[in-house]
Amino acid sequence: MEKDVYILAVESSCDETAAAVVRNGREVLSNVIYSQIDLHTIYGGVVPEIASRKHIEKINQVIERALADAGLPLSEADAVAVTYGPGLVGALLVGVSAAKALAFAAGKPLVGVHHIEGHISANYIENPDLEPPFLCLVVSGGHSHLVLVKDYGEYEIIGRTRDDAAGEAFDKVARAIGLGYPGGPKIDRLSGEGNPDAIPFPRAKVGDSAYDFSFSGLKSAVLNYLNSCEMKKIPVNRADVAASFQKAVIDVLVEHSMDAVSRFGTGRFAIAGGVASNSSLRKAFSKACLERGIDFYHPSPVYCTDNAAMIGTAGYYEYIRGVRHGWDLNAVPNLKLGERV
Ligand code: KG4
Ligand code: ZN
Repeated sequence: MEKDVYILAVESSCDETAAAVVRNGREVLSNVIYSQIDLHTIYGGVVPEIASRKHIEKINQVIERALADAGLPLSEADAVAVTYGPGLVGALLVGVSAAKALAFAAGKPLVGVHHIEGHISANYIENPDLEPPFLCLVVSGGHSHLVLVKDYGEYEIIGRTRDDAAGEAFDKVARAIGLGYPGGPKIDRLSGEGNPDAIPFPRAKVGDSAYDFSFSGLKSAVLNYLNSCEMKKIPVNRADVAASFQKAVIDVLVEHSMDAVSRFGTGRFAIAGGVASNSSLRKAFSKACLERGIDFYHPSPVYCTDNAAMIGTAGYYEYIRGVRHGWDLNAVPNLKLGERV
């Protein structure tokens, strides 16, 4: 029998300080997340400087907890994996520095991981049968990508947003209707009380690409609708706005994704990223995939939003492919998927 591989993983790219221990790429032994959301809520969004400072305060405790919860001494870890981009540079630097220090002190290999590769890999955790190739829609606060996962660690981006990310659109619309930050989960909840067909918001097409997205026009349409209601002194039904906006986003995501699955013929489709925890989006994809005979995969909500277990899973596949980073590994805020630095 082959020896088990234990990865200690660290994630600090935005406003979650997280560490996890993952065995053989698919078994999460611990998953510790310190969320800073409450700290940033009063500012209506993530304040990078505050995020970095809080990461510094919490990172060692979070890592110690992850090792303790897993019952794994650092000496028995096979490698330390860490998100080194994309993300907020000051926030990334905290995780990268902590991971480098630990790996150096304990004499362990260091594996830098792309944050989006982590989100995609979250699908491996609870789906033991999922193997590449498959198509994955990554929808988070900073990204909306349609990715062809050709093999472990091999990606081709076939569609992306031309402007706002899907999560960004949720957050901006939530702010406009007075729901506060983070907007996604709040719109998700309020939509349950509204009529998704109440307001005909636009479904944006990007002329020269079947798979690219654009959400800024939809966001403007919502703002225009709110302004015109105010001018005409018509009361706004916030639940209807939330539900109609959410449906407009989901319709476009489903249409583009289903077109791409049939074009690339993978027969398997996965979703990832914070917006992938949206309940209506999950239902819509599950229905669309069922109708087309496509196998549908999605992580549990805790593995959709930022966490380190997904970095441990991605880190494992990078580790067994032989990827190693040096002590000069740096944070790369605009790291491209598939790019090796
Ligand atoms: O993946 P994530 O935790 O961080 C990034 O890598 O960006 O995604 C955060 C984003 C935020 O924009 C948040 O509003 C959105 O995911 N989000 C949701 C839901 N939960 C989180 N959007 C829609 N519905 C949700 N239930
Ligand atoms: Zn993320």
